[in-house]
Amino acid sequence: MPSHLVAPSLLAADFTQLQSEIEMFNASSADWLHYDTMDGQFVPNLSLGLGMLKAVRKMTTKPIDAHLMIERPERHIEAFRDAGADQITVHQEACTHLHRVIQQIKATGAKAGVAINPATPVSSIFDVLEEVDIILIMSVNPGFGGQKFIYRAINKIEALKSEMMTRNLNPHIVVDGGVGLQNAQKILQAGANVLVAGSAVFKASDPSEAIRQLKDVGHEIAHWA
Ligand code: DX5
Ligand code: ZN
Repeated sequence: MPSHLVAPSLLAADFTQLQSEIEMFNASSADWLHYDTMDGQFVPNLSLGLGMLKAVRKMTTKPIDAHLMIERPERHIEAFRDAGADQITVHQEACTHLHRVIQQIKATGAKAGVAINPATPVSSIFDVLEEVDIILIMSVNPGFGGQKFIYRAINKIEALKSEMMTRNLNPHIVVDGGVGLQNAQKILQAGANVLVAGSAVFKASDPSEAIRQLKDVGHEIAHWA
């Protein structure tokens, strides 16, 4: 069975208990900490910035997966790397020169990712597939946690996985937004290998158990395997 990764999204954590939330994450079977930065421009909301990232970096040794929902992210790539991001994902829609921004991320030593919104076709990133370590498919419109999964994302994952197999490429396929036990198996069967989960982890009565259950979701019958 191919193994998959689980990346809890810190956005849904209780910030009054940040240290214990991250201690829970550290002790759990979670793989990456997903870190959502919003600028109030690319998305309507504002969220986690660089100061918070520096603090979080001191509290975990697991990879920090920065998801930049910001316009013109090329202005801030080095700052996110310096603050502690191991992986930096930018939106296709936010970059005029996406290829260049990907090279900029890689030059910092971070893993480079590209994200697409629900209304953006997967074909829009086909010309950078060889360049990236991570592809993030948004399954909600970015900006807020706790939204409903947009089912069309499943078709997009399948189309992406199929293109990747044709070209013999293997970047991570990350799915973000409305992910939980109710749809995790379908997402993995479609070809994704990383589940981002905010509410499904941090709003659960037992977050580390929620992580364990997401890690245990089976996908033996993946059609692409
Ligand atoms: C949404 C963020 C997500 C969010 C997911 O814009 O990119 O990472 O935290 O939260 P849930 O899992 O609650 O949809
Ligand atoms: Zn995210």
